[in-house]
Amino acid sequence: MAERRCQAIILAAGQGTRMKSSKPKVLHEVAGLSMAGHVTKVARDAGVELVSVVVGPEMEAVHKAAAAIHPAVYAHVQTERLGTGHAVLAAKADLVEACDDVIVLFGDTPLLRTETILAMRQKLAEGNDVVVLGFRTDEPGPYGRLLEEAGKLVAIREAKDCSPEELGVTFCNGGIMGFSGKVILSLLESIGSNNAQGEYYLTDAVELANARGLAVAAIEAPEAELQGVNNRAHLAKVEASYQAAARLKAMEEGATLLAPDTVFFSHDTKLGRDVLIEQNVIFAPGVSIADHATIRAFSHLEGASVAEGCVVGPYARLRPGTELEADVKIGNFVETKKAKIEKGAKVNHLSYIGDARIGSKANIGAGTITCNYDGFNKFQTDIGVGAFIGSNTALVAPAKIGDGAIVGAGSVITSPVNADALAVTRAKAFVKDGWAAAFRAKKAKKS
Ligand code: UD1
Ligand code: CA
Repeated sequence: MAERRCQAIILAAGQGTRMKSSKPKVLHEVAGLSMAGHVTKVARDAGVELVSVVVGPEMEAVHKAAAAIHPAVYAHVQTERLGTGHAVLAAKADLVEACDDVIVLFGDTPLLRTETILAMRQKLAEGNDVVVLGFRTDEPGPYGRLLEEAGKLVAIREAKDCSPEELGVTFCNGGIMGFSGKVILSLLESIGSNNAQGEYYLTDAVELANARGLAVAAIEAPEAELQGVNNRAHLAKVEASYQAAARLKAMEEGATLLAPDTVFFSHDTKLGRDVLIEQNVIFAPGVSIADHATIRAFSHLEGASVAEGCVVGPYARLRPGTELEADVKIGNFVETKKAKIEKGAKVNHLSYIGDARIGSKANIGAGTITCNYDGFNKFQTDIGVGAFIGSNTALVAPAKIGDGAIVGAGSVITSPVNADALAVTRAKAFVKDGWAAAFRAKKAKKS
């Protein structure tokens, strides 16, 4: 289909009153990405070259969310919400010389798959002028009904305009429609508002196209894929569907999930083969895990890359900018941020490693802290190859520990330590034999 150019129009002018939110509905997230972002991503992956988003007044943030995903996003403001047909016309400037395929998407339907848009484009490529995406449901309720005669789609009737007989139809409009770029504008411009809601219905394009002898077709997708979000309960349901699919995909691609229902992925989580993920692990955005790595129970990862053979957790927190080279070990209650930890290094217990580089094979003792912040600025810590940091050490940044150096337990390091040197800052121990026994005897006599 490479020779056919395609554009998408994403309708997102609704504020989403039922979300009871101060932000536009389509900015609510599913798997760490806004719904507007999901829809834009799906369009991008289906080869869409140009995206027009139709937003309400003061919704510049929606434009930004889409533009973060696709290089060519144009926003158009629909000042009054007069219906889906009216909304598409808000993007008229982008339709005057429309692409071969124009796909109209809803910003609040984030589970739509790329394959489905490709199937719609295929129908357009076969010579159809209008393509409707339908679904079958036992509860057609408020959806527009797809009315067929002799197997051909003749009209879409909004539920509020249906006769009792039409209400019994269970083949419904998912809302997503495809148009040939040649006819979309003239069809849209002939849509009127003479209906139960006094709105300009995009769906009327089907009847108008038939009256002109144009070719109209419907394709089908599973109901779950077309689930729209109108309130927070829908949002939770969509999130659950997304996670269920992401877990299956991870397993199909060769990861072992010990308790799949307790693992949460982001839209962009990347897993290699033979990755083992234990119970209760959360992947926030920006994480990639290479082959043969193990993420142990109760770990939280965000903006982190984990190379082959690493073991992370249990109870580890990898924050943005964490880069673990192969065979690194990060143990329990360790937090890392903007930290490059080189091959085979170990940070096994109770540490904070931030704004740091740790050389390969270095061993960071329990309770080591990089003191990276003085209340105003952040500073870097650099630990050399094979260095050994004793337990409970505070490295006051900027700090530099040379290759092979040893820092004694309990030290507070404030100046550079040369390669292969020993550094230890520790008060001399005061030991007095017999003192404790004498003290107890004295106390016992008094009582
Ligand atoms: C629409 C379809 C219906 C279909 C249903 C599927 C029409 C007339 N009806 O109905 O056949 O079964 O979706 O979910 O198209 N929007 C704007 N500006 C407007 C109106 C809507 O941007 O003036 C946007 C909304 O923000 C939303 C989308 O268009 O993202 C759909 O609007 P909505 O009001 O939810 O349409 P439905 O009445 O559900
Ligand atoms: Ca709706």
